[in-house]
Amino acid sequence: MHLGLEKKVVLLTGGTKGIGRSMVKAFLQEGATVYFCSRTKADVEAANESLAKEFPDAKSTGAAVDVTNHAQLSEWVTNCAKESGRIDVVVANVSALTIPDTLENWQAAFNTDMLGTYTMIQAALPYLEKVKGNIITISSVSGRDVDFTAPGPYGAIKATLVHYTAQLAHTLAPKGVRANTVSPGNIYIPDGVWGQIEADQPEFFKKQLESNPMGRMGKPEEIADAVLYLASERASFVSGTNFTVDGALCTGVQL
Ligand SMILES: NC(=O)c1ccc[n+]([C@@H]2O[C@H](COP(=O)([O-])OP(=O)(O)OC[C@H]3O[C@@H](n4cnc5c(N)ncnc54)[C@H](OP(=O)(O)O)[C@@H]3O)[C@@H](O)[C@H]2O)c1
Repeated sequence: MHLGLEKKVVLLTGGTKGIGRSMVKAFLQEGATVYFCSRTKADVEAANESLAKEFPDAKSTGAAVDVTNHAQLSEWVTNCAKESGRIDVVVANVSALTIPDTLENWQAAFNTDMLGTYTMIQAALPYLEKVKGNIITISSVSGRDVDFTAPGPYGAIKATLVHYTAQLAHTLAPKGVRANTVSPGNIYIPDGVWGQIEADQPEFFKKQLESNPMGRMGKPEEIADAVLYLASERASFVSGTNFTVDGALCTGVQL
């Protein structure tokens, strides 16, 4: 399937590790220009160097930006647009990944997941409208099912993102801008969340692994592929969906 993402300009938060890193690579493989950010300057520099070697014919630029610094995030989006002349796709990927049920974690989840997403989209909207671009937010199966993260902010804020994205889909459709959510299931990355749980809580990890009907956790590339499809013209009539990519982990039926 030809996705037609060559020459598209993609902005993505949290691109140095995990699912974000896979998405950066997947867009570069398709010939898109990618701007990504994360907080750790050394990781951004290392990513810039290794991506330039791996994809000599594509263009990616990482910057040290914290999505909880909303002024800095807006400025980054605007600067990327000025440099590239356009924004075709934004992917709001960063999460505070806060699970325990404390006031501080609710604040961190809202500030990072919700307001980081909102700020990025607000700053990008004028550019997206010009090219009839599209928005992808990264939620989670924890936003669909009440799972081991409950009670607490993680699933509730992830569900909020799905609703907000659906609002965008409906209100921006007349302007030709699409908005969709991708909700990953358990995604195994050795130095990621599940790699950490495997090392620290082997019994809990085993139980969670067994709860996946396919007998395995997902790969970050499997999330990136779903994002590529939604970002492409192949999904030109898909807007407002919550695309769950979880190997049938969710037990709730999405109506
Ligand atoms: N992994 C899973 O099983 C899973 C399942 C469902 C949903 N998800 C969702 O998928 C998304 C990515 O998760 P992941 O597992 O790939 O996470 P990850 O491996 O922890 O990577 C997170 C990325 O975001 C960056 N980041 C974190 N906080 C940031 C901030 N405030 N500002 C800018 N960058 C920031 C990190 O770099 P720095 O730390 O250097 O900033 C890193 O590049 C999240 O929304 C998560 O909720 C993941």
